[in-house]
Amino acid sequence: MSDQLPPCITIKDLTVIYNSKPVIWDLDLIVPQATLLGIIGPNGSGKTTLLKTIMGTIKPIAGTITIHQNNKTQNTQNIAYVPQKNSIDWTFPVNVYDVVMMARTAKLYWYQQAQKKDYEIVDWAIEQVNMSNFKDKHISELSGGQQQRIFLARALAQQADILILDEPFNGIDLATEQLILSVLKGLKELGKTIIVVHHDLNTVQKYFDWTFLMNIKHIALGPTKNILTSENIEKTFQAKFDWNIPL
Ligand SMILES: Nc1ncnc2c1ncn2[C@@H]1O[C@H](COP(=O)(O)OP(=O)(O)O)[C@@H](O)[C@H]1O
Ligand SMILES: [Mg+2]
Repeated sequence: MSDQLPPCITIKDLTVIYNSKPVIWDLDLIVPQATLLGIIGPNGSGKTTLLKTIMGTIKPIAGTITIHQNNKTQNTQNIAYVPQKNSIDWTFPVNVYDVVMMARTAKLYWYQQAQKKDYEIVDWAIEQVNMSNFKDKHISELSGGQQQRIFLARALAQQADILILDEPFNGIDLATEQLILSVLKGLKELGKTIIVVHHDLNTVQKYFDWTFLMNIKHIALGPTKNILTSENIEKTFQAKFDWNIPL
């Protein structure tokens, strides 16, 4: 059970400010290890900012973030990050294989070259997302769903213990959504910790064993079936919600 697992990411009293406006305010979050956690909140509620702060690309003005996995303090190199699709430059001159290989070469020193093992891992990652026939395609030639598969493959090739994905199901086909979900569930079974920003309330129950509701502040956290109450949803979106919880 997730609620008995040790914490993987522990966030305490986190505050992030843009142009003197707080976008995350005094936020606490504990993500248990080997959990598939969904983060839910309205547009502009600080979800992407939270992920970037965990990754260390944004510095908070207050608060602490500790990352633990397998009884060791970890740094952000043990986190694979799949950014929001609209934040990527799809005209960048690079093909599918190179995008996934970046996960491996990023770990090398300038004088090192990719080894046989790196190529094997890249092939394996591309196979996991059923994209082996697309290795030579330019990334701009792919559909939205195929692009998302490739970014998941890059995260897989990093072989990190923690995966963070920002709205991976946005603007993709249903087959890709199911494939990504089954890959994520498989990783969870292997003991990896996975955090997904998600926007579709109808699928939260089915997709995530834990859910974090936020809107600048922490609203609720826990096993999805306990958290997804109309009252919590209403608090998160600050509007009356005509939505039945399929328990
Ligand atoms: N680089 C930035 N500079 C200034 N404000 C920003 C920046 N990035 C995001 N914001 C603002 O911070 C708030 C939270 O943004 P974001 O974390 O992207 O929300 P979400 O991912 O939940 O939609 C929004 O009001 C957004 O306009
Ligand atoms: Mg966002």
